[in-house]
Amino acid sequence: MDMQRIPAQEGNYNLQNYDKVRAGFSWDEVKKNFSWNETGKVNIAYEAIDRHADNPDKKDKVALLYSSPDREEKMTFDEIRKKSNQFANVLKKYDVNKGDRVFLFLPRTPEFYAAFFGILKTGAIAGPLFEAFMEQAVRDRLKDSEAKMLITTPELLGRVPQEDLPNLEKIVLIGESDKTSDKYIHYAEEMKEASTDFDIEWVDLEDGMLLHYTSGSTGKPKGVYHVHNAMIQHYATGKWVADLNEDDVYWCTADPGWVTGTSYGIFAPWLIGATNVVRGGRFSPDDWYGTIDKNNVTVWYTAPTALRKLVSAGETKVKDHDFSSLRHIMSVGEPLNPEVVTWGLKAFNMRIHDTWWMTETGAMLIVNFPSMELRPGSMGKPIPGVEASIVDNEGNELPPNQMGNLAIKKGWPAMMRKIWNNESKFESYFVNGWYVSGDSAYKDEDGYFWFQGRLDDVINTSGERVGPFEVESKLIEHPAVAEAGVIGKPDPERGEIIKAFITLNDGYTESDELLEEIRQFIKTGLSAHAAPRELEVKDTIPKTRSGKIMRRLLKSWELGLPTGDTSTLEE
Ligand code: PRX
Repeated sequence: MDMQRIPAQEGNYNLQNYDKVRAGFSWDEVKKNFSWNETGKVNIAYEAIDRHADNPDKKDKVALLYSSPDREEKMTFDEIRKKSNQFANVLKKYDVNKGDRVFLFLPRTPEFYAAFFGILKTGAIAGPLFEAFMEQAVRDRLKDSEAKMLITTPELLGRVPQEDLPNLEKIVLIGESDKTSDKYIHYAEEMKEASTDFDIEWVDLEDGMLLHYTSGSTGKPKGVYHVHNAMIQHYATGKWVADLNEDDVYWCTADPGWVTGTSYGIFAPWLIGATNVVRGGRFSPDDWYGTIDKNNVTVWYTAPTALRKLVSAGETKVKDHDFSSLRHIMSVGEPLNPEVVTWGLKAFNMRIHDTWWMTETGAMLIVNFPSMELRPGSMGKPIPGVEASIVDNEGNELPPNQMGNLAIKKGWPAMMRKIWNNESKFESYFVNGWYVSGDSAYKDEDGYFWFQGRLDDVINTSGERVGPFEVESKLIEHPAVAEAGVIGKPDPERGEIIKAFITLNDGYTESDELLEEIRQFIKTGLSAHAAPRELEVKDTIPKTRSGKIMRRLLKSWELGLPTGDTSTLEE
């Protein structure tokens, strides 16, 4: 075990008295930072945007610092307020109401943010979709959520299925298009006409705000349902862990199609009133270093995959840029390798703070914060107001240094409130009052948590969560594929890559062309990040007697590990 330790530092919100803060902690204290605390009626869009726009000192402050290779734009809090009000008026005109699901399938552009807050202001539930999704992925989500409206661009419209979605009434198109049917609403035309005033729909803390679809090991992606109450934790962790204050220029690299991109790419920085950097386009080391340098980013939240790519890009690239503005770095999504932490100390002269949480948890839970000693390789300790533990399968707590299920005592503010249309799935997460994460970990004597791996078949490739079932289902849609089993295979840069084992239907023979065609079929039908990097043809795929694919066995074979219990294997 790595016993390297990196000493604590000063931060803006020192939690040096961590144990004492935890002991006397109540989320009610955090609520006092919000005006709704008295009325109980709330809207996260108001707290993140309009509250600052109402403040004469902050109204003209740059909220969004947007750039992509072909566009640069700044938006103040007041400008986002007005644009989102206009969009909320457009939505009302077409009968969007509280609780309706309105999805966004957009590239990372300033319009995304105006539309997103417009949706929330009507009391509707926003469903952001990752820009790289293809038709099947889009269909599954719109269908399951019974989305009433979709906001997209003419370029992405080709990936939006036009049949089999009876609830989808309207599609808003951002960008020039000659579509004329009643189904389409043209953004520019409607926005021109729309008032910049809007009466926000005040909702209850427990009313729905967001649906983020995420993958498990079985079934289609699940709609994780979050409520406005999550803001309490976005705000608190934005301070404690991201160390943010109003003067910061903050950059979260995650796409808003994933939970990091909403909780920490939108809510945390704006609830605090910081300037939020959004960079469109694709990853490259020069582009990312340039984004920090040009925008004078002070606080940066990113992922191990990206950091590992920066490490491989070498030291000269670091020396080509000026990082003097940067003062705090965080990471999420996968284990943060101790070597990367060591590299961070050298490259930036800064600690990289690992944070652990999930789509289902809505906000950070186990973290490293500034006034805490770092133990590279450890995810850190639970935030105040959160109790974490290692439990056995019955939900009994295990002693230090024993590996088990990483679990959280039910009831933190940002916790998902349901799985859309799937109550039994929601309930299956909880055992004996604990939310059981599906990750295995242990806790050392000093209360630091150490991630060990996933306990299910969920794949984590480049920090993105992929369900093997989704990929397998798509694979067998290809005429050549009879059966498919999909696993995550360890990879030094991506964490895991997707490997698919398939059997072929009669009449097909294995060839490089066929395998490439199948790969492309997933890439263009489901999404690029879900396409198997490795495909192997087998004579049979191991299954249980009840017909379940034994991915664990495939994985053991692939990695040359002991195969364990195979008593349920089909003859
Ligand atoms: O396995 C854990 C891994 O990512 C999973 C959650 O994925 P997702 O819902 O897509 O959310 C990602 C970002 C919030 C977890 O079950 N994971 C997340 N953070 C870490 C991690 N694994 C190791 N270390 C982390 N810091």
